[in-house]
Amino acid sequence: MRLQIQSLVLLLLVLLTSTAARDLTVLGHIWIPINDVNNPYVIDLANFAVNEDDRLTGVMLQFEKVIKAEYQIEVINYMYHLVLSANNTSISNKYEALVSVNKWDNFRNLTSFRALRD
Ligand SMILES: *[C@@H]1O[C@H](CO)[C@@H](O)[C@H](O)[C@H]1NC(C)=O
Ligand SMILES: *[C@@H]1O[C@H](CO)[C@@H](O)[C@H](O)[C@H]1NC(C)=O
Ligand SMILES: *[C@@H]1O[C@H](CO)[C@@H](O)[C@H](O)[C@H]1NC(C)=O
Repeated sequence: MRLQIQSLVLLLLVLLTSTAARDLTVLGHIWIPINDVNNPYVIDLANFAVNEDDRLTGVMLQFEKVIKAEYQIEVINYMYHLVLSANNTSISNKYEALVSVNKWDNFRNLTSFRALRD
């Protein structure tokens, strides 16, 4: 029984994360807009997202600016959805990042990072 509940929770988590990456409106959760995209905390999260993607992929992107920011309150984390621009020293492009921040220890994780087409 306990194992079944654990697998169910795991399955739900897998479903939630894959849904989150595909469709950013998850199960009626509410995205709260952050109007000040130059807020130092938002800039810090955007830098984290770009640096973390650089570290994971070996691509050297330079963060330029945040275009759109919103967040969602989850059980354990705050989930930040950022649209930002960055360049690889020659070409500037828009990217979409999801960063989770643990409510208790502030642990950050780059949940997804992808290029957006114009
Ligand atoms: C790339 O981004 C850096 C940092 O914001 C900026 O100084 C530079 O001008 C940008 N380069 C291009 C080609 O957009
Ligand atoms: C920058 O990205 C463009 C488009 O993907 C690519 O053609 C170019 O080679 C890249 N430049 C560097 C310095 O990585
Ligand atoms: C960070 O997020 C990715 C993608 O959701 C996940 O695969 C990874 O396990 C997470 N890492 C940590 C330390 O939570």
